[in-house]
Amino acid sequence: MEILKVEHLSKIYGTGENKVHALRDVSFSVRKGEFVAIIGASGSGKSTLLHLIGGVDRPDGGKVYVDGKDVYAQNEEALAIFRRRQVGLIYQFYNLIPVLNVRENMTLPVLMDHREVNEKRFEELIEMLHLKDRQNHLPNQLSGGQQQRVSIGRALMNAPALVLADEPTGNLDSENSSQIIELLRFSNQKYRQTLIVITHDENIALQADRIIELADGKIVRDEVSRR
Ligand SMILES: Nc1ncnc2c1ncn2[C@@H]1O[C@H](COP(=O)(O)OP(=O)(O)O)[C@@H](O)[C@H]1O
Ligand SMILES: [Mg+2]
Repeated sequence: MEILKVEHLSKIYGTGENKVHALRDVSFSVRKGEFVAIIGASGSGKSTLLHLIGGVDRPDGGKVYVDGKDVYAQNEEALAIFRRRQVGLIYQFYNLIPVLNVRENMTLPVLMDHREVNEKRFEELIEMLHLKDRQNHLPNQLSGGQQQRVSIGRALMNAPALVLADEPTGNLDSENSSQIIELLRFSNQKYRQTLIVITHDENIALQADRIIELADGKIVRDEVSRR
């Protein structure tokens, strides 16, 4: 089953002399449960692509379909609901709310959606993330690896159609990076969670089912990994 379809996507920043063609006619599809690594030099358009897939920014041309739905054909309110329910974002610098504890950060997307926390899922995730004894800690009382685990929990809490991670191990040492990759891989297998991960990390790219390489806003390679 196709969970994501990107068609002729383009994005231009700025105008006149400052115009940057960040994405040029990018098309591809992703099957449910696939684990895709996106690689490419700095400035090649990776983050732009991820944001357009996640409904964070608007394209200048082309379409994004998630679970059959035309993402940018929705009004702002529907788009906000789409972002909360269908997308889990993971960033290099975690983006946790400093005044909320681990449990509150993880369950925030559910509460913002005015829904009840699925306690069974929360328990399962907090154990998987090895954060059970850290539930009441604030982000600044956690290591970088632990903070990234919280942000993975937050991304998975709503069982989104897509988990999108932008260099999730970019700020971590090799041991913590391995743990993060293992957790992403585990969620991919256990929940058949579709994952799209931007990375410079060879180890992550090699764990993926598929590697898409961008250069200058275009796909220059799209291949099934030899794992
Ligand atoms: N908000 C923005 N305004 C202007 N230019 C931008 C903006 N965001 C990204 N760009 C430009 O678009 C290109 C692609 O950026 P980005 O998607 O962040 O690349 P990557 O994540 O691969 O490093 C770069 O040339 C970058 O400078
Ligand atoms: Mg980037």
